[in-house]
Amino acid sequence: MMFLQLSLQFLLLLDLMDVSSGSPAENEDSYMQELYHRISTQEEIFPTDGRVRKNTKTKVFTSKQSAGSDSTSVTAVSKKKEKSERDSVSDVSDDCPPLGLESLKVDDFQLHSSTMRHYGLGPHRGRLNIQGGLQEDDLYDGGWCAGRVDPLQWLEVDARRLTRFTGVITQGRSSLWSSDWVSSYKVLLSNDSHSWVTLKNGSRDLIFTGNREKEITVLNRFPKPVVARYIRVNPRSWYPGGSICMRLEFLGCPLPDPNNYYRRRNEITTTDNLDFRHHSYKEMRQLMKVVNEMCPNITRIYNIGRSFNGLKLYAIEISDNPGEHELGEPEFRYTAGSHGNEVLGRELLLLLMQFMCQEYLSGNPRIRHLVHETRIHLLPSVNPDGHEKASEAGSELSGWSLGRWSQDGLDIHHNFPDLNSVLWEAESRKWVPRKFHNHHVPIPDWYQSKNATVAVETRALVSWMEKIPFVLGGNLQGGELVVTFPYDRTRSVSVLREQTATPDDHVFHWLAFSYASTHRLMTDVSRRVCHTDDFAKEDGTINGASWHTAAGSMNDFSYLHTNCFELSMYVGCDKYPHQSELPEEWENNRESLLVFMEQVHRGIKGFVRDVQGKGIANAVISVEGINHDIRTASDGDFWRLLNPGEYTVRVRAQGFSSGSKVCEVGYKIGASRCDFVLSRSNLSRIKEIMQKFNKQPISMRLSRPINT
Ligand SMILES: *[C@@H]1O[C@H](CO)[C@@H](O)[C@H](O)[C@H]1NC(C)=O
Ligand SMILES: *[C@@H]1O[C@H](CO)[C@@H](O)[C@H](O)[C@H]1NC(C)=O
Ligand SMILES: *[C@@H]1O[C@H](CO)[C@@H](O)[C@H](O)[C@H]1NC(C)=O
Ligand SMILES: *[C@@H]1O[C@H](CO)[C@@H](O)[C@H](O)[C@H]1NC(C)=O
Ligand SMILES: *[C@@H]1O[C@H](CO)[C@@H](O)[C@H](O)[C@H]1NC(C)=O
Repeated sequence: MMFLQLSLQFLLLLDLMDVSSGSPAENEDSYMQELYHRISTQEEIFPTDGRVRKNTKTKVFTSKQSAGSDSTSVTAVSKKKEKSERDSVSDVSDDCPPLGLESLKVDDFQLHSSTMRHYGLGPHRGRLNIQGGLQEDDLYDGGWCAGRVDPLQWLEVDARRLTRFTGVITQGRSSLWSSDWVSSYKVLLSNDSHSWVTLKNGSRDLIFTGNREKEITVLNRFPKPVVARYIRVNPRSWYPGGSICMRLEFLGCPLPDPNNYYRRRNEITTTDNLDFRHHSYKEMRQLMKVVNEMCPNITRIYNIGRSFNGLKLYAIEISDNPGEHELGEPEFRYTAGSHGNEVLGRELLLLLMQFMCQEYLSGNPRIRHLVHETRIHLLPSVNPDGHEKASEAGSELSGWSLGRWSQDGLDIHHNFPDLNSVLWEAESRKWVPRKFHNHHVPIPDWYQSKNATVAVETRALVSWMEKIPFVLGGNLQGGELVVTFPYDRTRSVSVLREQTATPDDHVFHWLAFSYASTHRLMTDVSRRVCHTDDFAKEDGTINGASWHTAAGSMNDFSYLHTNCFELSMYVGCDKYPHQSELPEEWENNRESLLVFMEQVHRGIKGFVRDVQGKGIANAVISVEGINHDIRTASDGDFWRLLNPGEYTVRVRAQGFSSGSKVCEVGYKIGASRCDFVLSRSNLSRIKEIMQKFNKQPISMRLSRPINT
C-alpha cells in the first residue's frame, strides 16, 4: 500500500502524458514544468505518512540553501550555517534543475565562447565537473580557457528555447599542473545572441563572487529568475597566477516551446512506478523495509557490519528462500557506493530492488525465474559515511570528490589486500600450481593486523565475500560510462597502464560486454565521451589495468581470493545526477542490471560427492587450459563461469582420488550440469582403517629394528 503511494507520482505523469498525446506539445511541456516545480519545491506529493510536508531533510539539490531576495554565494564546504536559514525559507520554488552541461544533455554545439586557448580547452569543455586529461595540450582538457586574458571574454550556452534561469554554478579548471579559476563575473542574457542584457543590482551591473580555488563549486542564485534563450558568463577577475578558465552549470527550467522545434531529444520517460528520488540513509532503510513488507516471501534485510561512524551496511537479499544458501543455487551480488559520492549506483540498486519485488508480484516470468534460480544480494551503500557528506552538499555542489573516501580517509574500493603481487611472485618462482595455488590466494598477515590501514567497511566486505559462496558480482561506480574487468593492477609498479589479463579473460570480456551492450548509451559510438577516455573502440568495456593501474581493488581481490568473478560498472558520466534524471538513468541501466545478473547462470555447475552421496567441500575444480581453479562450497556444490565450448574438467579433493570428464557449455543461458563422484583414495582408506584401530603405521614400527 505504502509502496503504491510512492509510485503515484509517476502514475500521475503517465496520466498527463496521455492527455497531452495528440494535443499540442505545450501540455506535455507544462506538465514537465509542473513536475520540475514539484521536485524542486520538494513537496512529497504522496509522503508515506500521508501528510503533505516540505521535506527539508531529503537530499535534493533545491532544498539546501536559502533563496533570499539577494543573490547568495554558497560553497560546498560552508553549508552548515545555511541550515537554519533554509528552514525559514518560504519560497524555494525558484530553483530550477541543472540545464545539463554536466549531464551532457546540453550538447557541444550549444556551447560557444569569445575565444579559446586551444581546442582541448574549448567551450565544450566548460562543463561542471569535467575532468582534464593528463597531458598539457590534451584534446580533452579540464575546462574552458579563454584565448586572451581580458575582461571581454565570455562563455555562452544556447538553451535552444526560452528558459527560466535561476542561477549558475562555477568551478575552476581541472588540472594537475596549473591553477586557473574565475573569481568574479557578470551574467548576460539574450533572446537573439546579438543584444545582451546584463543582470543588475539596482542600476549597477551585478558582479557575482566566483571561485577561490579550482575544485570547490560555488553557486550563485540570481536575485530573481530571468527568462532568455542565451546566457553568458563574463569573467571580470581571475586568479592572478592563472588565466581565465572555468567549468559551469546553469540552473534553468525550459519554458513551453510553442514550435516544439527542439524537442528535448534525450528526454525519455519510464513506465516503471518506482520511487525516483535520492534517498538519505534513513530513507534508504525505510524503503528497504517497505519492499520487505511488500515482498516478505522473497526478501530479507541484513547488514554486513558497520561503517566508521557506526551506520549499518545494509543489504537486501532477493531469493525464493531468503536467509539460506540453497543447494546448487548460485549467489550473486551487486554493491554500490564504495565511493560515497558516486550516488547513482546506490539509487539504481534501490530501484532494482523495488522493480524486482513489483515484477515478482505481478508475475513477470523473467523475474520469477531469476528469483527462483538465484540468490541475489544488493548492498546499495558500502560507504554511507561518505554518502552523507556528499548528499549534504547535494547533487550539484558536491563536486568531484567530496565524500569519496571512508570517514578515516580510505578509498574502500582499493583497500583490499594486493594478492596480485603475491601470486605473481609465486609464479615467478615456479611455485604455481604445486607449492602455491592459482586461486584462493591467502590474505597476508600484515593485512589482518589491527595496525593495517584498512577501513572497517573493507573488512566487513572481505568477511562477507568469504562467508557467502558468491559466483558473480558487480560493483557500481560513477563518473564514467564503461565496464571494467580484472586485473586492475599492472604487473610492474612503474607501468601506469597496460593490458593485464586474467586466465579468464574471455569470460570477463563476455561478462563486461553483457552489461555494456545492453546499456542504452555505453556502446553508442556517436555519444560524446564523458571526460577524456573514449571506450567505444572496446565496446564500452576495458581491462582495468589498461585504463589505469590500481592495487588492491575489489575485483582483483575477489578473483584471487574467492570463487567470485567481480566487475566494475561505471554507470554514468555524472557521479551525482540531479534527482530529475533518475528515471532516465534507470532506463539506461535497467536491462543491463538484469542481463548481468542472468550471466551467473553461464558455464558449468554441479556437485562433487563421495560414493555415499555426501557433498565434498573445498574440492578443487580445474578446467584444462585455464590456469585458475575454483572450489566447491560447503555442501559440495560449485559453479564455474565459462563461455560456450567443450571443456575437460578435473576435480581433486583431499583424501579422494581425482575425477575428470568433458563438460559442454552451450550458447543458451543456463549452466550445464557437470557432477562428479569421487571415491576415497587408497592411501586415505588405509589411513582411516589404521586410525580406526588406533594403530601406528606398520611400516614405521617395523622399520627401525630391520634397519639397525
Ligand atoms: C546590491 O547593491 C547593494 C547596494 O549597493 C549592496 O549592498 C548589495 O550587496 C548588492 N548585492 C549584490 C548581490 O551584489
Ligand atoms: C526574452 O523573451 C521573453 C519572452 O518574450 C521575455 O520575457 C524575456 O524578457 C526576454 N529576455 C531577454 C533577455 O530579452
Ligand atoms: C507468501 O507465501 C505464502 C505461503 O506460501 C502465501 O500464502 C502468500 O500469498 C505469499 N505472499 C506473497 C506476498 O507472495
Ligand atoms: C603495530 O603498531 C605497534 C605500535 O605502533 C608496533 O609496535 C607493531 O610492530 C605494529 N605491528 C605490526 C604488525 O605492524
Ligand atoms: C587402489 O588399490 C587398488 C587395488 O590395490 C588398485 O587396483 C587401484 O588402482 C588403486 N587406486 C588408486 C587410485 O591408486
